[in-house]
Amino acid sequence: MDAKVIPLVKEEEKSKENLPQTDLTPKAIVKALDKYVIGQEKAKKAVAIALRNRWRRQRVREDLREEIMPNNIILIGPTGVGKTEIARRLAKLSQAPFIKVEASKFTEVGYVGRDVDAMVRDLMGIAVSMVRTEKSEEVEEKAKDLAEDRLLDLLLPQSPQSAPSGPEGERVKQIHRTRENLRKMLRGGGLDDRMVEIEVQRQMFPFVEILPVTGSEDLEMNLQEMFSGVLPKKKKTRKVTVKEAHRILSQEEAEKLIDMDETIAEAKKRTENSGIIFLDEIDKIVAMDSRSGPDVSRGGVQRDLLPLVEGTNVLTKHGFVKTDHILFIAAGAFHQAKPSDLIPELQGRFPIRVELKSLTKEDFQRILVEPKNALLKQYTALLETEGVSVEFTPDAVDEIAYFAFQVNEGTEDIGARRLQTIMTTLLEEILFSLPDSRRKKILINKKKVRDTLKEIVEDQDLSRYIL
Ligand SMILES: Nc1ncnc2c1ncn2[C@@H]1O[C@H](COP(=O)(O)OP(=O)(O)OP(=O)(O)O)[C@@H](O)[C@H]1O
Ligand SMILES: [Mg+2]
Repeated sequence: MDAKVIPLVKEEEKSKENLPQTDLTPKAIVKALDKYVIGQEKAKKAVAIALRNRWRRQRVREDLREEIMPNNIILIGPTGVGKTEIARRLAKLSQAPFIKVEASKFTEVGYVGRDVDAMVRDLMGIAVSMVRTEKSEEVEEKAKDLAEDRLLDLLLPQSPQSAPSGPEGERVKQIHRTRENLRKMLRGGGLDDRMVEIEVQRQMFPFVEILPVTGSEDLEMNLQEMFSGVLPKKKKTRKVTVKEAHRILSQEEAEKLIDMDETIAEAKKRTENSGIIFLDEIDKIVAMDSRSGPDVSRGGVQRDLLPLVEGTNVLTKHGFVKTDHILFIAAGAFHQAKPSDLIPELQGRFPIRVELKSLTKEDFQRILVEPKNALLKQYTALLETEGVSVEFTPDAVDEIAYFAFQVNEGTEDIGARRLQTIMTTLLEEILFSLPDSRRKKILINKKKVRDTLKEIVEDQDLSRYIL
């Protein structure tokens, strides 16, 4: 069955359609998430349904479509149990414009910092680069051909000296032949390392910024963008290899072939209809105590968030973006605060609450080995680069999981993150001694795990520092 999911997703990556997600049924989504996240079935199900509902909404007749609101979700659960992981994997899968932001990074409008509208601007920016990437893939072949011709012009300037003598027709043919020969060499890679001078435009790619930055940088970006349209693009000569030149010129040609207005219109459509904003650490903006200073602004952030979640227009550098149908997935540990401490209007906008469970020892066992990016797989691959094959016996895995669970109980529960600290401690000696120790095979069994970790685990003070 696995084999069924993978090609579907791959196909979608290539698909040029607006709604490439036909095969991403709730079951297929959960199955794909299963490859990375152990357990947490309820959460996986909820996000899968929400994602599919977006797709369904697109197919509802228009007057009703506008009425269908997204199923905004709050994922509630202790730290390190997979909340962010689910969101991350969902993003990869969904092919929808997706952004993960930390609610605690935002400040109320009027205060220094980043205002909440920035997340919509960033989402739109991501959609634009997404569509642009797709479009440049579409024109890639053509752009490469055009770049090739420009490159041949550069490599074969038609100066009078280089032109062969003889009757006119013969000369033209000769030039043509030389050019075609050169083209063959170029394609065969024979000219790759030769140097060539090309003119490049300074601001070839005003890449949309994705990283969260402070408010002032935002402004700077906007100004830069504004001026980039007004000021003539500066040209600069650079000496590069033929290979590099071909890449640069292909990019330039691709840019020319892409209709930016169309790109922006498509990006806007995708942002508005299938955009997903993952609001992490939502519990951190609960105003805990109205007397303490910074909390005043937390409540403010909630109030600022409200219009976004309810639906408003946000001005981005590509025009207004409507947020009515953007899907919000919020997550938080809610250790101290409860979801009901959020302002009521906001609570109402997150109708779906899903609790993620604390991970058990059995979960840890599976997390160590099953996910595609499982820790043991990672370390095995790392050691392989030193020519060492490492093997973990099943009872060793068992023991690692047991210790992780123990330490979480005894000190602080940091969920699956504990596996990281346990593994680094367990493997420290091996990682340090390679490649000098010239070992080719390492077996890690229960005894080895015990011998390395027992003392640390049993001494709570020690484990507090080391693990
Ligand atoms: N259920 C799980 N299955 C597989 N791996 C997991 C699971 N839960 C956590 N992990 C691993 O632990 C790491 C931390 O998990 P994650 O970032 O999802 O925590 P979180 O729930 O968002 O916690 P926090 O509240 O601290 O943000 C992840 O990188 C992931 O590899
Ligand atoms: Mg998280």
